[in-house]
Amino acid sequence: MNNISASGFLDLCRSRYSCRAYSERVPAAADMEYIMECARLAPSACNRQPWRLMVIGPDDERRHAVAQAYNRPWITSAPTYIIVCGAPAEAWTRPDDGKNHLDVDLAIIAEHICLAAADRGLGTCWVCNFNPARLTVDLKLPCGIVPMAIVPLGYPAADAVPEKKRNDLEALIIK
Ligand SMILES: Cc1cc2nc3c(=O)[nH]c(=O)nc-3n(C[C@H](O)[C@H](O)[C@H](O)COP(=O)(O)O)c2cc1C
Repeated sequence: MNNISASGFLDLCRSRYSCRAYSERVPAAADMEYIMECARLAPSACNRQPWRLMVIGPDDERRHAVAQAYNRPWITSAPTYIIVCGAPAEAWTRPDDGKNHLDVDLAIIAEHICLAAADRGLGTCWVCNFNPARLTVDLKLPCGIVPMAIVPLGYPAADAVPEKKRNDLEALIIK
C-alpha cells in the first residue's frame, strides 16, 4: 500500500470509519444539503432510484423510535439520523434469476451519504442490526417502504475510536 500515491478520494476512504460516539454539535444545514445532494446522485440498477430517506434531527420526536429499534446507548449521542429506506416494488429485478436489487441500490446511496459526511468532517456509522418491524411501525413508514439502514450522523466525540482493520489486497482477489 505504501507505493499508492495520495489522492483526495483515497484520503476520504481512509478517513471514514464507523463512529460510535458523537458530540452534541449539530451538523450545519449546508453540510446536510451537501450530503443529500451526494445521495441524490447515487447510481441505481436501471436508474430506478427505489430509495427514500428520512432525516431525523435533534428535536425530532421520532428519535426515540431509533433508540427503541436499535438498543445501544451510543446511538443516542448522534444529533441526526438518516434512515435509508426503499421500495422493493420499484427496484430492478434481474430477469435471469429474479434477484431484486433493492439492497444493492440502497447500499450505494448509504455509502454516498457516509463518504459525503466524512468529506465534511462528519462521522457516520452503518447500522443494520436493528428491529425492522419495530422501526417500520414506530416511524410510520408508508406502505411498501422498508428500512435498510440507520445512519447516525454528527461530529465525532473527542473519544471516538477510529477502526480500520482490513485484509490485504491479495485476500480479496480471485485468481
Ligand atoms: C451493512 C453493514 C451493516 C452494519 N451494521 C452495523 C450495526 O448494526 N452496528 C454497528 O455498530 N456497526 C455496524 N456496521 C459497521 C461495521 O461494523 C464496520 O463498517 C466494520 O467493522 C469496519 O469498520 P469501519 O467502518 O470503521 O471501517 C455495519 C456495516 C455495514 C457495511
